[in-house]
Amino acid sequence: MLVLGIETSCDETSVAILRGKNEILSNIVSSSLFRHQEFGGVVPEIASRHCLEQIDLVLAQALQEAKVSLRDIQLIAVTKGPGLIGSLFVGMGFAQALSYQLGIPLVAVNHLEAHFAANFIGQAVPDRYVGLLVSGGHTSLTYQENGKYELLGETEDDAVGEAYDKVAKIMGLDYPGGPAMDKLAARGNPRAILFKKPKQEKPLDFSFSGIKTAALYAVKDMKTGERKSDAPSNEDLAASFQYAVVRWIVEKALSACELKDVRHIVVGGGVSANSHLRAELIRQAGEQGIQVLIPPQSLTGDNAAMIARRGIELFELGQLADLRLTAKPNLRIAG
Ligand code: KG4
Ligand code: ZN
Repeated sequence: MLVLGIETSCDETSVAILRGKNEILSNIVSSSLFRHQEFGGVVPEIASRHCLEQIDLVLAQALQEAKVSLRDIQLIAVTKGPGLIGSLFVGMGFAQALSYQLGIPLVAVNHLEAHFAANFIGQAVPDRYVGLLVSGGHTSLTYQENGKYELLGETEDDAVGEAYDKVAKIMGLDYPGGPAMDKLAARGNPRAILFKKPKQEKPLDFSFSGIKTAALYAVKDMKTGERKSDAPSNEDLAASFQYAVVRWIVEKALSACELKDVRHIVVGGGVSANSHLRAELIRQAGEQGIQVLIPPQSLTGDNAAMIARRGIELFELGQLADLRLTAKPNLRIAG
């Protein structure tokens, strides 16, 4: 089966073509990031306009690279949420029109569930697993069994990617700061600044607003202590921040496995690109005989291949969408 995936939930416009569940024929991503950088964050109107301008071109490129024509496509999968309403509408309207014109089925995909599906292209799906979602808008732990999701914990305030981006901004780095922080951290001392772990009522919940404020004070201290030879550097702050958040995330993911007596962790979301998170999670889980599925770097960010992959599952479950479908900006996992 040839499936066309369409993803326009935020600042990316992506179209992918998959042959069955395991073969990516093309996966084109056009990002509008460069247009948002001067504003220090994503501007929704700019993002949706970019999606509108790009969608035709990205589709043409995806078809060309896959060496197929529109008439060969048998299923369309599109993101229904969560995300920015304007961007979502562009992809959904486009997908509905294509499905109507070609007379082929349409499925509407939850973007968060698709981040997990990115792992299953060419990989067997474990029967039971703990899902760790780490993105710019969401941070959660779920228990997943036979397609059913149980929420074990989520962030009480900022998402981990958001915390990365905010701390990076304080440090004067460009948006989104996650990748830049990751690089800086590699050259710093992770023990230079000790960040206190937040205390929480529910042990599998997350909180990142405290560390963000602590980082802000650390930057102020760094500025006043600039002339002292032992003052921490930007690299030290990035390394200490990264060391702390990764330690908390890994600890909670492993506790979730213990709670549910599970041997697999499946990771999804943009922060799964983080080098320290990847290494520590694989190392510590491995010590306990737990296998970690983490997407290849090319599928960690928002992309349409993961939407198409999740779309095939929904199609097999008979969960088809129709032309009354509408965008769900606040959709939750399993929503
Ligand atoms: O999943 P995603 O592409 O978009 C959402 O659906 O939110 O995640 C984007 C987030 C941004 O906050 C970005 O800074 C973060 O992922 N990110 C990283 C890294 N690469 C991307 N954070 C830390 N380290 C990275 N290497
Ligand atoms: Zn995402």
